[in-house]
Amino acid sequence: KLDNYFLLSENLGIGKNGELPWRLKNELKYFANLTKTTQTPAKKNAVLMGRKTWESIPAKFRPLKDRINIVLTSQAELVKVEEGVYVCPDFPSALDLLNTKLREEIEICWVIGGSSVYQEALKSPELSRLYITRIKKDFDCDAFFPELEADWIKQSDSESNSIQQEEDGIKYEYEVYERKTE
Ligand SMILES: NC(=O)c1ccc[n+]([C@@H]2O[C@H](COP(=O)([O-])OP(=O)(O)OC[C@H]3O[C@@H](n4cnc5c(N)ncnc54)[C@H](OP(=O)(O)O)[C@@H]3O)[C@@H](O)[C@H]2O)c1
Repeated sequence: KLDNYFLLSENLGIGKNGELPWRLKNELKYFANLTKTTQTPAKKNAVLMGRKTWESIPAKFRPLKDRINIVLTSQAELVKVEEGVYVCPDFPSALDLLNTKLREEIEICWVIGGSSVYQEALKSPELSRLYITRIKKDFDCDAFFPELEADWIKQSDSESNSIQQEEDGIKYEYEVYERKTE
């Protein structure tokens, strides 16, 4: 199962100069909890990301712990391959890895950015849910969220939905979307 996680500002920005344009500690905890949690204790989740997102994670925090890290890059030598880290040359080969070698050990693969990886994942029929953290403020960004098609429906009964969060004067909300069936 493939789920997408996004954190974006009002002007749909997701990054600036290879970093996040904001610092929201509780949101980082939400992200860690969301992407680590599995229903089956023996299984793990995976996080799938582009090479620049991998490089944006401070070295001491990567690979993201308790999750299998899968990094997309055409230049494999840029990513240090170690226990729990896989490098794939394109999106289909990442899906293939998840559906074959990792099939039994992975519960959910979270697509965690950036722009082009989100774009490819949104086109994939395997993608079932979107978790979006919507920041209620404009930020100067150079990486953006792709256009969301109309077949994504916001879920109003989600437990985390509609509760306004606030940190350092920045307001934001957690949203969950599912693809329209039929
Ligand atoms: N707000 C959020 O939720 C969020 C999430 C993630 C990242 N970010 C921010 O976004 C920025 C980074 O995102 P980005 O969009 O610039 O870059 P990115 O998607 O993380 O990385 C782009 C690179 O990934 C590789 N790649 C992507 N798609 C590929 C594919 N289909 N096949 C093979 N390789 C592929 C390529 O690496 P090579 O050039 O090595 O081939 C490409 O140059 C940073 O500022 C980061 O902090 C924000």
